[in-house]
Amino acid sequence: MMKASTDPTEWRTTMIGGSLQAFREDPLLFMCRLHQSHGDYARFRLGPQSFYAIFQPDMLKEAMVTKADAFSKAGAFDEIKRLTGEGLVMSNGELHDRQRRIVQPKFTRSHIQAYAAQMALSTHRIIANWAHVQERELTRDLFKITFDIMARTLFSYNSQSTLEQIEKAFDSINRIASEKIRSLIRLPLLIPTRQNREYAAALRLLDEIVFGIIAERRQNQEREPQDLLSVLMGSVDETDQTGMSDRQLRDELMTMFLAGHETTAHTLAWAFDYVMKRPDIEEKLLQEWERVLDGALPGAEHYNELEYTQNVLWETLRLRPAGYLTGRTAMVDTKLGDLALRRGDAIMISPYPLHMSPAYFEDPESFRPERFDNDLMKKLPLMAYFPFGAGPRSCIGNHFAMLEMVIILAGIGQSFRLRHIKGHPPVVPEALLTLSPKGGIKVVAERR
Ligand code: HEM
Repeated sequence: MMKASTDPTEWRTTMIGGSLQAFREDPLLFMCRLHQSHGDYARFRLGPQSFYAIFQPDMLKEAMVTKADAFSKAGAFDEIKRLTGEGLVMSNGELHDRQRRIVQPKFTRSHIQAYAAQMALSTHRIIANWAHVQERELTRDLFKITFDIMARTLFSYNSQSTLEQIEKAFDSINRIASEKIRSLIRLPLLIPTRQNREYAAALRLLDEIVFGIIAERRQNQEREPQDLLSVLMGSVDETDQTGMSDRQLRDELMTMFLAGHETTAHTLAWAFDYVMKRPDIEEKLLQEWERVLDGALPGAEHYNELEYTQNVLWETLRLRPAGYLTGRTAMVDTKLGDLALRRGDAIMISPYPLHMSPAYFEDPESFRPERFDNDLMKKLPLMAYFPFGAGPRSCIGNHFAMLEMVIILAGIGQSFRLRHIKGHPPVVPEALLTLSPKGGIKVVAERR
């Protein structure tokens, strides 16, 4: 007989499924409750597989930074490999280290400054078509802008004619892949359910586009622009002196396609959602934009001065971390604090329960960009706030993302006043591949 318990997660734990139902319904709430009931770490079961959830900053630091070599990213999130293959997000070991070394120079803080003009231009070009007063689906607009920026800056690819199809494909993949991950189902796509057909068609479409970009670049190599694709194509393996195969190139491009636009689009959507609800914050932003930009397009040279804009985004990433869940599998027997892990043990990591902890953030539920004033991040323990992960698998696009989001938030915000459409229900998070605003956000955009 199951014992009576004060554990708030246990009432939904079954003998057969473990905590699968509660996890599927709301992984963020599930992780927070585990943290509240168990403290530093908790063991739980999803279907046949058991996991450790880690909530203690020093243990997290060991898992992600100091003992990162003891872990691989294989495990619960393998479904993502169907899309990204052996690209940077999901590869492991030497392959990962080598690819990261090749890609890293294009993402340094100084290098991404060169992308700022394109970031501002893409934003400006897309919002130039907005009417004076118009109802808009904000999440779709932000998808268009962030995809355009990622495709042009990293691959010199103009996605205007394919954007609608790409958006539809990503929508299918996002819904179906996250459902598969949450149910821990990894059936071959050959089983012709309606969902599998939709999923396979979306993957095929993105494959066609990506292989098309690679083929075109191979034909025009002498005129090639100096972007991430040219770096990937020009790289040579130190051991066997070979270049990357089309397959490996495809995996890296697809990885950037996936990791490089939706995260930023959704974070921006959440930022606008908070700002629209708080005229006092909007007013402070407007004052900053007037003082720093005075009507000019935002650029890299303004970034440091747009401090409040950055803090609005840091606070958004605290409450709505787009990368809300990741996993690792122990490759060897190892320890995190006093927790002994055996080879093959799987761990799950979410920044959300720490971001919501009163131990690190006063009044954690409320949106207060000011809390990031005076270098809060330097004062917090390393793993109390980690929207971009940490260690050798941290987000390679973190500087890219912050610069881009500051430019888009200021670019749109100084030209348009956005408000939720009348009667808009509160926007709630949906844990898809990234933390999405469920059902999107409908706004009225009014030119300032
Ligand atoms: C708000 C925006 C973003 C957020 C919140 C975010 C979050 C994250 C997080 C948490 C990780 C680590 C996952 C783990 O530990 O397993 C990660 C990895 C990664 N991100 Fe981002 N990301 C963002 C934007 C971007 C952008 C713009 C790019 C590329 C242009 C990008 C490319 C990547 C890649 C390639 C990895 C894998 C790195 C590796 O394993 O070596 N991300 N991201």
